[in-house]
Amino acid sequence: MKKDLISISAKSTKEIEEIFALTDKLKKDKDKYSKVLSGKTIALIFQKPSNRTRVSFEVGMYQLGGNSFYLAPNEISLGVRESVKDVAKTLSRYVDGIVLRTFEHKNILDLAKFADVPVINGLSDFSHPCQALADVYTIKEKLKVSKGVTLAYVGDGNNVCNSLLYTCAKIGLNMNVGAPKGYEPDRSVLKESKSIAKSKKAFISLFNNPYEAVKGVDVIYTDVWTSMGQEKEAKVRKKIFKEFQVNKNLIGLANKNVLIMHCLPAHRGEEITDEVIDSKNSVVFDQAENRMHVQKAILIKLLK
Ligand code: CP
Ligand code: NVA
Repeated sequence: MKKDLISISAKSTKEIEEIFALTDKLKKDKDKYSKVLSGKTIALIFQKPSNRTRVSFEVGMYQLGGNSFYLAPNEISLGVRESVKDVAKTLSRYVDGIVLRTFEHKNILDLAKFADVPVINGLSDFSHPCQALADVYTIKEKLKVSKGVTLAYVGDGNNVCNSLLYTCAKIGLNMNVGAPKGYEPDRSVLKESKSIAKSKKAFISLFNNPYEAVKGVDVIYTDVWTSMGQEKEAKVRKKIFKEFQVNKNLIGLANKNVLIMHCLPAHRGEEITDEVIDSKNSVVFDQAENRMHVQKAILIKLLK
């Protein structure tokens, strides 16, 4: 049966650990894997802009000996020019895998349902699993451990936050979410990830106060207050999230060597200050680099 990467909720701890183990190998011995996907091609269907996701998948696929091509929003016009089903069925005749970046998560579920080849979620309004895998991999790489580590996610309970909740829970990392009232992560994700974390002897806690969320933590993570597609709400959100800015005062409450993370792109001066994102504690570009290494592992696991 073909395998997909739609949400971390469908991945077991063992599968995640296998992706991380393969990522280690890919980072150590890049050349060994230079032909592993030779003759394979992936399509990248993007309905939103991207830097990291598009480039890391394209370069990653190239480094594995395979091919990729990018389909911009108005080329396929998913669901407008043609139904998701017909796109899935047609592309399955040409390519070996499809990465989709879209608005409605249902588009990814439908594409995966009708495609005969693996489908990878390259971000939806609901989740961003490739990001969260690279994030948790980066934390393990930097801190060498995962048990007893606490990550505080400060800001909007969005797609990135939802995927981090599942991934932290499955790996046994503790996670605090500090989000304003009304902007908390998806309720069912929170419930499910809390119970998974508990089974791993870890915890997930929700705060509406950013200062409480970061007290004594090892990692502080933030993302934009206004995600792609929410641009009309930007002005209102700037006011609501003001207290949730990751700045020097806030990080002063965390552990001394706290890691600063951001999925990028960052709106510098909004959710994070220049001083913090450019500080020695910031690992944002190592995190961005790891997107490519982790995705190479994902591609091998799904396509080979
Ligand atoms: N973090 C991330 O997914 O970046 P892009 O939107 O640039 O792909
Ligand atoms: N939450 C952001 C993540 C971008 C990588 C967005 O969806 O725009």
